[in-house]
Amino acid sequence: MDTSTILVTGGTGYIGSHTCILLLEAGHDVIVVDNLRNSDVAVIDRIETICGRRPLFIEGDVRDTPLLEDILSNHPVTAVIHFAGLKAVGESVSIPLDYYSTNVGGSISLLTAMQNSGVHTLVFSSSCTVYGDPASVPIREDFPRSATNPYGASKLMIEDILSGLHTSEPGWQIARLRYFNPVGAHESGLIGEDPIGTPNNLMPYLTQATAGLRGELNVFGSDYETPDGTGVRDYIHVADLANGHVAALDYLEKQPGMVTVNLGTGNGVSVLEVIRTFEAVNQCKVPYRIVDRRPGDIARCWADTRLANDLLGWKALHSLEDMCRDSWRWQQSQQG
Ligand SMILES: NC(=O)c1ccc[n+]([C@@H]2O[C@H](COP(=O)([O-])OP(=O)(O)OC[C@H]3O[C@@H](n4cnc5c(N)ncnc54)[C@H](O)[C@@H]3O)[C@@H](O)[C@H]2O)c1
Repeated sequence: MDTSTILVTGGTGYIGSHTCILLLEAGHDVIVVDNLRNSDVAVIDRIETICGRRPLFIEGDVRDTPLLEDILSNHPVTAVIHFAGLKAVGESVSIPLDYYSTNVGGSISLLTAMQNSGVHTLVFSSSCTVYGDPASVPIREDFPRSATNPYGASKLMIEDILSGLHTSEPGWQIARLRYFNPVGAHESGLIGEDPIGTPNNLMPYLTQATAGLRGELNVFGSDYETPDGTGVRDYIHVADLANGHVAALDYLEKQPGMVTVNLGTGNGVSVLEVIRTFEAVNQCKVPYRIVDRRPGDIARCWADTRLANDLLGWKALHSLEDMCRDSWRWQQSQQG
């Protein structure tokens, strides 16, 4: 891919920061816009330490359309990767307006600024949550979509906004990437997931509980119709996920249009398998207990990854062992 300037919204966040590193390493210039609601500006220094190059950081809100227009008119931006948003399912039920305003309002603001500035290439962070409770696995991109909470509904709405935009203006080049369950951290141990408050997801809670920072890990349900009764998910290393964005940009450069692609490994792994693998790889004991199912959780979810393989020429390369090792290294580095 030719090198160019890429605007990354939410670029100090978990997935965004890993993607910035790959973009900089590939020779692109990177501009990050983030309001630091769920991240720390120190991430910019760490990105520079890792790859020897630094993104231009602009603190700001994606709902600020004039700010985005200003950035797009003053820099030779050719494409935008849009990570900025709120992502906790439980929190979205408590503060739905924040979620719709940030995720949906923020996306409309960004698209308006891009339209007004003549930038028409976008990679968007969607989620496997748009599949609701799938009738079967592996999940293909053409499966029905549904939402049971404001977070999922916001992703569905943005997907629909993007498809409406593409229908009305076919010159747009759009990749809607549906992530499965990102875990792991950069192998340097310098950047990783840094959730504010009690983690919602398995891996950050598991690492914090193992480090003695939280109580036992609750394993929600052992009576699902899965091989060991615990929930099965498609965990994907964040470095592989980040690489999927570079592959999507590359694809859009050659094949204009709109694509919707799953980014997962294609492997379903149970909660108990994650715990056993984490213990074996890191030679430690994970404190956990089995409790009742958590309302809203589904039994099984993993991706059919053929479209990503065929269209983007992309595939996840990291193993579950890598994910467990890198997650633990990151947790330990944070404790000094
Ligand atoms: N991590 C996951 O499990 C997962 C799964 C599927 C999809 N996604 C999506 O991927 C994207 C990135 O997720 P992440 O895990 O890196 O989350 P993250 O919270 O680490 O990163 C999101 C970033 O967006 C910033 N942000 C929030 N509101 C903003 C606003 N109004 N203006 C500017 N910046 C704002 C935050 O400060 C943060 O740095 C999100 O859109 C999320 O919904 C994440």
